[in-house]
Order: sequence, then C-alpha cells, then structure tokens
Amino acid sequence: MSTVAVVTGAASGIGRAVAERLAGDGYDVAMMDLDGAGLNETGNRIRQAGGKAFGFPVNLIEPLAVGAVTREIAVSVGTPEVLVNVAGIGLNANVLETSDDDWNRVLAVNLTGPFLTSRATLPLMLDRGKGVIINIASVAGQIGLARRAAYCASKAGLVGLTRAVAVDHAHEGIRCVAICPGTVETEWIGKILASAPDPVAARQAMAARQLDGRMGSPDEVAAMVAFVAGPDGRFINGAALILDGGMTAA
Ligand SMILES: NC(=O)c1ccc[n+]([C@@H]2O[C@H](COP(=O)([O-])OP(=O)(O)OC[C@H]3O[C@@H](n4cnc5c(N)ncnc54)[C@H](O)[C@@H]3O)[C@@H](O)[C@H]2O)c1
Repeated sequence: MSTVAVVTGAASGIGRAVAERLAGDGYDVAMMDLDGAGLNETGNRIRQAGGKAFGFPVNLIEPLAVGAVTREIAVSVGTPEVLVNVAGIGLNANVLETSDDDWNRVLAVNLTGPFLTSRATLPLMLDRGKGVIINIASVAGQIGLARRAAYCASKAGLVGLTRAVAVDHAHEGIRCVAICPGTVETEWIGKILASAPDPVAARQAMAARQLDGRMGSPDEVAAMVAFVAGPDGRFINGAALILDGGMTAA
C-alpha cells in the first residue's frame, strides 16, 4: 500500500514541484488548491509520468471546507502520513500601507490555512502514531524584509506554529518542520517581475539577493521536502531549515 502525502498550493510553483517530486518518489499525492484548472494540470503531469495524484479544489481559509476535504481524502485516497503546507500569498506593503483586509487575508492564507489543515490532519496521523507536517515558511519568517510587514509576520507565525506542533506531538510520533526558502523562481515571482518598470533590472536585483547570485528553483525546495519527509530526515523535528543560496548569511 502506498504512503499518502497531502500537498497544498499544488496548482502552481513550489506546490506543484513538491507534488510532482513526492509522486515520483512513490507517494499517492492528494492536492489541495483554490485553482481547479491548475490542479488538473499538475495531476495530468504526474499521471503522465506514471504517478498517482488526486486534486481537491478548496479554499484553505474555510475551516468547514478544510475539514470536509481532509475527511474525503482519508476515505478516497487514504490516511495522510505527510502534509506539506505550501499555499501562500504575498503583499508588498509596510505597516502604514497595509489595510485591515490585506492584513487579515495574508494571515488567513499563510498562517490560519496551515493551522486548519494541521488541525484536520493531526487526528488521522495520531491514530496511526506517525506523521510529518512540513510548512513552507520563508526567509521572511527569519529576518525583516522591506515592505513585507504582513508577509513577514505570517511566516514568522508559521515558524512558531511549527515549533509548537513539534513540542506538543513529538512524543506521539509526529514531526513538524518548517522550510524557509529565499527567492524561488515561480509563477508568483514571474508576476512580480512582469509588473516591474524594468523587468530585466528587477530580475537581476532579485537574483542578487542570494549570495549564489541566482534564484532557487521549485525543484530544489521539493528535494528538501522529500528529504525531510523521508527516512533520512527522521531526526529533523521542530526546526526551521533555511534554503536560501546564502541570502540570510550576509
Ligand atoms: N517563490 C518564492 O520566492 C518563495 C520564497 C519563500 C517562500 N515561498 C512560499 O512558498 C509558497 C508557494 O509560493 P509560490 O512561489 O509557489 O507561489 P504560487 O503563487 O506560484 O503558488 C501558490 C499557490 O497557492 C494557492 N493558494 C493561494 N491562496 C489559496 C487559498 N486561500 N486556498 C487554496 N490555495 C491557495 C494558489 O492558487 C497557488 O496555486 C508560499 O507559501 C510562499 O510564501 C515562496
């Protein structure tokens, strides 16, 4: 019987790469995202490569919907042993520029979403006495980034949630780990660059934020997820792992 992994945000970018990697590693992958068409595309790519993937369109900020979809996954795909919270949104604004709605939206998707999926999934993992929850945070959860007030707060909160889950449930066979990427070249970054006055200069500036002089790839994040989720990662718990091409070393 295959191991089941749930991946949120799997319609695009890092979430798609994580879903593809885990499916390639032999997991049955249940994918959650708002974007049903994007989920279909990820699912088709995985099936064409010989893997198993199942799409579940859902708005991850709605508690009842998250609970219902999690139960549906448990029945139709199987009990999840791995949960990877990838879905997230950004906001370019300092505190003075951030409206109540913007603040609530960023915190809801980036922090409440992983709380809801964890709360829905943990009882299933606890019944089995094992499970791994991996939260894709950000370097923005470790350092302050200019004009990213709500985003930094949400990702620092996600690192805190990660540690709390690890402390509460390690003795019950659960691991919870945050991964904090630097800039990763995804659809999200593509949109930011396309809207810049000088996209070429903006791209160079983005790449230069990393000591390595380039952005990371979604596959590099997916590789770290696969390592943490798998047997080689079994001693990693409650950690915030930085994967940033040296961005936060300077
Ligand atoms: N790209 C980067 O440079 C970078 C760096 C560090 C951390 N991250 C984090 O990685 C994660 C993925 O980023 P990405 O660059 O792949 O972004 P992306 O925009 O390409 O993908 C995000 C996905 O999340 C989904 N999503 C958003 N809100 C949702 C909701 N309410 N319910 C369900 N699904 C929802 C979107 O539909 C989309 O498919 C985010 O949490 C982001 O903060 C990204």
